[in-house]
Amino acid sequence: MNRFEGRRVIITGAGSGIGQATVLRILAEGGRVAAFDVNAEGLAATAGLAAGQGTGQDRLTTAVLDVSDESAVREGVAAAVADLGGLDALVNAAGILRSAHTHETTLEFWNTVLAVNLTGTFLVTREALPALLESGHGVVVNFSSTSASFAHPYMAAYAASKGGIQSFTHVLASEYAKQGLRAVSVAPGSISSGMTTGRGPGLPEDADMSLFVKLAPAIGQGFAGPETVAGVVAMLASDDGAFVTGTELRIDGGTHM
Ligand SMILES: NC(=O)c1ccc[n+]([C@@H]2O[C@H](COP(=O)([O-])OP(=O)(O)OC[C@H]3O[C@@H](n4cnc5c(N)ncnc54)[C@H](O)[C@@H]3O)[C@@H](O)[C@H]2O)c1
Repeated sequence: MNRFEGRRVIITGAGSGIGQATVLRILAEGGRVAAFDVNAEGLAATAGLAAGQGTGQDRLTTAVLDVSDESAVREGVAAAVADLGGLDALVNAAGILRSAHTHETTLEFWNTVLAVNLTGTFLVTREALPALLESGHGVVVNFSSTSASFAHPYMAAYAASKGGIQSFTHVLASEYAKQGLRAVSVAPGSISSGMTTGRGPGLPEDADMSLFVKLAPAIGQGFAGPETVAGVVAMLASDDGAFVTGTELRIDGGTHM
């Protein structure tokens, strides 16, 4: 499949997990990718995997970028669009997961999560929009979460940020539909990545695990790999997703039915 032949794509959160898997998938399908992450080592790992994959490493550029830093986003996106010669798709995968009892959540904690997940998604999208609209078929794929619609205890800031991303995505889809733009959210769950395996969600020590019982994998297959989500993102960002906009797609193996 070469659905991204001649297509230019920006991907954030590209140094780990789902963002990294999406870079590899879009390169394998012929696309040119500008990959951003706040973590330089992660980006180097992504470039190494692209080289190992043997397809598209020459179509990949990487740059360290904090999506919550307005001036860095302005400069980074402008440089990427200039280098790519335009933009066809944006994948906003950068995100952080932090957990705490809501009554113990400090304003700093709350603002940090919102700044990266929600404001970061807004900033990168805002800067990318002119180029996406110019392409006439621009696509934005945003990362919501099952936590946006299903109660995930101890994740108030994270869930609120992901709910905000869903609302933001609906507005984009409506506001720019006549200019050919599509905007979709994916809502992953139970995907192995840096967020869910390495340091994990860091639940409070006295977390009431009985609150999670209803989230136990309903069909028993445990966690899936990030490439599972990358395949869906590639479909949505390609012409195969041409009639999908203003909605969200849950990718969780049925754990939130
Ligand atoms: N893994 C899951 O089950 C799951 C479930 C729901 C939603 N998501 C969402 O999927 C997206 C990808 O996460 P993942 O699971 O691959 O986790 P991950 O931790 O492996 O990847 C997240 C990436 O975002 C980067 N990042 C963090 N802060 C950043 C910033 N300020 N600027 C730029 N990059 C930054 C990290 O360095 C990391 O490389 C996130 O938005 C996450 O909220 C994941």
